[in-house]
Amino acid sequence: MKREIKKLWAELDWIKDEDLREKVAATWELAFEKSVLSPSDLEKIPFTLLIENCKVSFMAHKRAVVHVAFESAKLMKKFFGENLPIDLDVVVAGAILADVGKLLEYEKVGSKIQFSKSGKLLRHAFTGVSLAQTCEVPDEVCHIIAVHSREGDAFKRTTEGLIIHHADFMTYLPFRN
Ligand SMILES: [Fe+2]
Repeated sequence: MKREIKKLWAELDWIKDEDLREKVAATWELAFEKSVLSPSDLEKIPFTLLIENCKVSFMAHKRAVVHVAFESAKLMKKFFGENLPIDLDVVVAGAILADVGKLLEYEKVGSKIQFSKSGKLLRHAFTGVSLAQTCEVPDEVCHIIAVHSREGDAFKRTTEGLIIHHADFMTYLPFRN
């Protein structure tokens, strides 16, 4: 499975801290152990069940969020320098993990994918933090999982948390128009 995770997420290589990179990969591995979905399913299933006939796959959307967040963070660093410290490792790790809890939100009924009980009761921001904490992912990154979605509106987001929140919504909301 480790090799499959690295194949699914080539972007893991952008994380310079080896320990963090391994913990992020381990979180995805744990999520697959608990999920009805396989890595190949993620290339096929729609990224959201909230939009009818959504043609964009789960992985296409998740990769877009990681790329948009990483490029945005690098540009912000270029323009603001020391005036706005940004940890790029935290940005990439947080973006890769933001939706890991979604693997527990689905269940398969025949060939149909639908919301699981966990998905209805807990939502992926909560289950994602639980998975990441089990793998000893640091709090700065767990924070991003916790606040990337609307649940996080009640909290003060870190700079890295804000970048991923906006990268996620700017690549999601246009599909709802
Ligand atoms: Fe999400």
